[in-house]
Amino acid sequence: MEEFKSDLPHNNYTNGGSVTARCSSNIALIKYWGKKDIQIPMNPSLSFTLTESFTESNVKFMPKDCEGFMVNVYLDNQLNELFVPRIYIFFERIEPYVPFLRSFEFEIHTHNTFPHSSGIASSASGMGALALCLVEMEAKFGVEFTEEEKLKKASFLARLGSGSACRSLYPGLAVWGKSEFVKGSSDLYAVPYPYEVHKIFRNFQDTILLIDEGRKKVSSSTGHKLMENHPYAKQRFVSASENLGKMIPALKEGNLKAFGEIVEHEALSLHAMMLTSFPSFILMKPGTIAAIEKIREFRKQTSAHLFFTLDAGANVHLLYPRNEKNICMNFIENELKQFCSNGNFINDFCF
Ligand code: PMV
Repeated sequence: MEEFKSDLPHNNYTNGGSVTARCSSNIALIKYWGKKDIQIPMNPSLSFTLTESFTESNVKFMPKDCEGFMVNVYLDNQLNELFVPRIYIFFERIEPYVPFLRSFEFEIHTHNTFPHSSGIASSASGMGALALCLVEMEAKFGVEFTEEEKLKKASFLARLGSGSACRSLYPGLAVWGKSEFVKGSSDLYAVPYPYEVHKIFRNFQDTILLIDEGRKKVSSSTGHKLMENHPYAKQRFVSASENLGKMIPALKEGNLKAFGEIVEHEALSLHAMMLTSFPSFILMKPGTIAAIEKIREFRKQTSAHLFFTLDAGANVHLLYPRNEKNICMNFIENELKQFCSNGNFINDFCF
């Protein structure tokens, strides 16, 4: 971890200033669920970084004399105290790598392009954007980074705030977690997917059905923790690693059938872990299951390549190729919209 330490001098920051950064949300194809130590994943994961759903953050920093961290967060110009404790935990974790956190009072202004109450986690894009801002600050103070080094450090820092956030730093596909199948992969940061990807996956669509716009009953951190004594955890970690291995040729060959099988198996395995933990919990809603049933029927009746995945919530991500957008959008409007809260869905795509 030495490579991420900063050689900036301590207590020598006399100038304030401001930095801005943007970071997208991501949807995992191979899911991370279960961790050890400080944000070390139990299995490798792979995700699509989205394009339209992102967080933009501006960080103002003013020199201060007193000890301790000082942070105020504004979401859409409204002071939001809920985020502050999480940011203090994040700052404590990253302090060895970012030496100036106690030297400034921080004012963070943040905006998400997706609705805050939509049930789409803003932690990945939010932590990613904040990590990028901090690396931008380091650059301002004189650390010389290449663009690649900047993203790597931001990914390393973002992981310490919210695991899956570390994948959001890279457009397209990103891998986080050491895997025998992916060269250069690491538990400490994500890397851009290093292999060939068939053109069918270019601008791959992700329509997010907002089945439930409320707050989740069980947080991701609780879910990860429940994997520690989970009866099927060991097999789940093996299966996720193997699924990553199977995904590589599917992505290269443009094998949509294999892609869909792996992605849906991953989504259902994630929720199977929730259903079988002690205590168990259910994040899917009746609308989630109803949408999945409809998708399976639709696939039987048409030759469309429309697949679903789920994150740790009730919403359904619909993944399909750009050239099938018309048929899929018709189906969504006519058959799936009914399961969305207030008929709401979000159209996004991976680069
Ligand atoms: O990064 P966390 O702690 O919010 O966990 C994310 C877990 C999943 O979204 C369910 C899967 C993933 O790999 O993104």
